Amino acid sequence: AGFFTYDPGFMATASCHSAITFIDGEKGVLLYRGYPIDQLATKASFLEVAYLLVYGELPSEEALNHFEHLITSHTMLNENLKRFLSGFHYDAHPMAILCGVVGSLSAFYHESIDVNDPRYREVSAHRLIAKMPTIAAAAYKHFVGEPIMYPRNDLRYGANFLHMMFATPCEDYEPGLLAEKALNLLFILHADHEQNASTSTVRLAGSSGANPFACIAAGIASLWGPAHGGANEAVLDMLEQIGHVKNVAKYVDKAKDKDDPFRLMGFGHRVYKHYDPRAKIIREVCHQVLEEFPGASDSPLLELAVKLEEIALNDEYFVERKLYPNVDFYSGIIYRALGIPRNMFTVMFAVARTVGWVSHWMEMMSDPANRIGRPRQIYHGQGVRDYVPISKR
Ligand code: CMC
Repeated sequence: AGFFTYDPGFMATASCHSAITFIDGEKGVLLYRGYPIDQLATKASFLEVAYLLVYGELPSEEALNHFEHLITSHTMLNENLKRFLSGFHYDAHPMAILCGVVGSLSAFYHESIDVNDPRYREVSAHRLIAKMPTIAAAAYKHFVGEPIMYPRNDLRYGANFLHMMFATPCEDYEPGLLAEKALNLLFILHADHEQNASTSTVRLAGSSGANPFACIAAGIASLWGPAHGGANEAVLDMLEQIGHVKNVAKYVDKAKDKDDPFRLMGFGHRVYKHYDPRAKIIREVCHQVLEEFPGASDSPLLELAVKLEEIALNDEYFVERKLYPNVDFYSGIIYRALGIPRNMFTVMFAVARTVGWVSHWMEMMSDPANRIGRPRQIYHGQGVRDYVPISKR
């Protein structure tokens, strides 16, 4: 029984070889295919980064145009899929809808997918990247009771998403440049993060040769938890619960109390023992966005977040454990300023992370070393014993 290595949470297990994303958690470094995250976040477009993650190199202008054309040719949803979506309860959480509807794509594209054929794997990846914003926006429209909008293929990825969210059949929506820029940046920062829980889930599901749409639905389910992608929603709940700068110290004490389940949401990371490089970029943009959208201003929340960060970063408990703000700490404040409601925050994460999920799935499927993922266990149950008839128990 002692033969297997016991590694709960896979703290010390490398489950695969990968050439997609590199993290140095001690130094706070994050590279996509070798390119530093800050350069990509400030200089590239989301689909350019998607191409990079999926294919391994930055695209030429021609390759990018072709890729954008391929993606936009898959943005529509089958009408039956919309009917399926409309069956959800009116106040269903958009993550529940996303999980179900993306999983149902496997019923729409089942016969056409041969997971052993690279061409079909590629088409599935394109379909997923293209349809995810359409499904996400449709989940929102269902929630607010408005008609689902068709995608606009003349718009860029993020602008089209904002259009599908906020336009109605009666009124166009012109996303401002800063809103589009902020979304582009957030999507790039969330696009991949090597073997996190949801990506590992996608790989494990896919290792059996399962349909890619079902595998991505499994990834969405894993992302939903508050310890993972659900943290961005939990951060805003927490900031509102704290309510005022004067209460920050009390909540920091609560987070340190081992008898209290309260944790500082958006703080800490399995890999980063240094400031999360994504959080650093988001923090800056947060200030810019809130200046630009004074109407939707969440500056009291930002002020609270900054104060919380300051107190925690100077507290022995957090310093000793190397707990810093992570990607989710400031992202919710930006989403809210853009008019995106809280229950959509994790959905936004899922839209962006789809690129990482499909990149990892494709990498795994083309890896000759790929075999079914099948961890073992350390059994500590009963030894062998004889069945006792119910009358004698
Ligand atoms: N507040 C208070 N204490 C914390 C926190 C926190 N947010 N995070 C970790 N700790 C403590 C923890 O109690 C433990 O203390 P001790 O050594 O005394 O037992 C120590 O720090 C190590 O924590 P851990 O739980 O063993 O670390 P982990 O690698 O298993 O968990 C984590 C990482 C991200 C799940 C955790 O830090 C956490 O729950 N953070 C809050 C949720 C969050 O922000 N999640 C988003 C992660 S980044 C984006 C993403 O993955 O989607």
